[in-house]
Amino acid sequence: MHPEYRHRREQLMQKIGSGTAIIRSAPMAVMHNDVEYNYRQDSDFFYLTGFNEPEAVAVLAPHHDEHRFVLFVQPRDPRQEVWTGYRAGVEGAKERYGADEAYSIEELDAKLPEYLRGADRIFYHLGRDRAFNDTVLRHWQRCIAQYPRTGTGPVALEDPGPILHAMRQIKSDAEMEQMRRAAAIAAEAHIHAQQFAAPGQHEYQVQAEIERIFRMHGAMGPAYPSIVASGPNACILHYVENTRQMQDNELLLIDAGCAVDYYNSDITRTFPISGRFTAEQRSLYAIVLEAQEKAIAQVQPGNPYNQFHDTAVRILVEGLVDLGLLCGDVDGLIEQEAYKPFYMHRTGHWLGLDVHDVGVYKHGDTWQSLQAGHVVTVEPGLYLGPDIQPVEGQPEVPEQWRGIGIRIEDDVLVTATGHEVLTAAVPKAIADLER
Ligand code: GLY
Ligand code: MN
Ligand code: MN
Repeated sequence: MHPEYRHRREQLMQKIGSGTAIIRSAPMAVMHNDVEYNYRQDSDFFYLTGFNEPEAVAVLAPHHDEHRFVLFVQPRDPRQEVWTGYRAGVEGAKERYGADEAYSIEELDAKLPEYLRGADRIFYHLGRDRAFNDTVLRHWQRCIAQYPRTGTGPVALEDPGPILHAMRQIKSDAEMEQMRRAAAIAAEAHIHAQQFAAPGQHEYQVQAEIERIFRMHGAMGPAYPSIVASGPNACILHYVENTRQMQDNELLLIDAGCAVDYYNSDITRTFPISGRFTAEQRSLYAIVLEAQEKAIAQVQPGNPYNQFHDTAVRILVEGLVDLGLLCGDVDGLIEQEAYKPFYMHRTGHWLGLDVHDVGVYKHGDTWQSLQAGHVVTVEPGLYLGPDIQPVEGQPEVPEQWRGIGIRIEDDVLVTATGHEVLTAAVPKAIADLER
């Protein structure tokens, strides 16, 4: 067992003081009828345990004399395991995952009260599993009913998210290594896709090449449904059908990343399928690239989270004004959000065990400051869809600009002195994308 899981549990237990934390595993997800997707553990559960089986509950009870970390798991059952794979079982939970005590999940109702007895609060995330929410509430209710007699017991239910997610936001050295690996595999896939893509091929063929490389290197698979969007499809932010035949003189937008031992990468590149940008494509691409590079330069410890977004927006707006696609003064256009028909999403998000990772962006009105160990994506774009509707008072978009969508996305680790672009290996300079 990686000692880091133990360290994370100790950190969390320090912060919950005399509380008891109850963390639930992810459910199995149905693909269709009785066929299920590959199991993917809940990120909080995985972060604290490294345990990747369903039907499990982790309990952290820092106030308990002997059992501070307890796992409830599916018991060994050779007749079931022959269908669904080996289970760690109760013994494995202790030996391999470091639980001080472990029980069959069937014993949860009988054993949980022992771990709630000395607690002043219950830390539990009210999730989508209503039946399990009910289980936790029922146990809490029983504690409350006993309170007048015992004078002790949990008096509040608290979401562990703020504590746990602040921890997850700062990547350890080991996590940084995992993220570098996820970035490197996805980078290789993008580099290959840039060489492989050609007019006449279908988008799914490029997708297949990318995902082949993910698996060839042992990644779990795509971090999210791969987007391979040619021509006007690039203007659909979450285009995942990937069915179109690519044409000469079009751009191809690829947004694809992989998961390596649960850690994700998230890369977007846009390039000319036939090796040359048209004049319009080149002008817009140059703007997005400048916005992205200047935004990345703002990813520095101490800078407020929104600074790189604001930088990107300003450069995109200046560029659109230079091209005559927006008219007016740059500050005013930003203020009235006249760029939104061209750029409707934000410039990034936290990245980690979840692709849109946990952690707050704002405390009230104050943006969180970037700190060493944070990982963000930086992903400005411009989307001039066939039906783009400028805001009132702005010119119509001339025909030759329509149907062009561009996004450039890198994964950036904040370091003590600046940043490290984890996905820098994938070409994005105009000269490197033309043949
Ligand atoms: N691929 C999802 C995103 O870029 O946020
Ligand atoms: Mn992203
Ligand atoms: Mn992406």
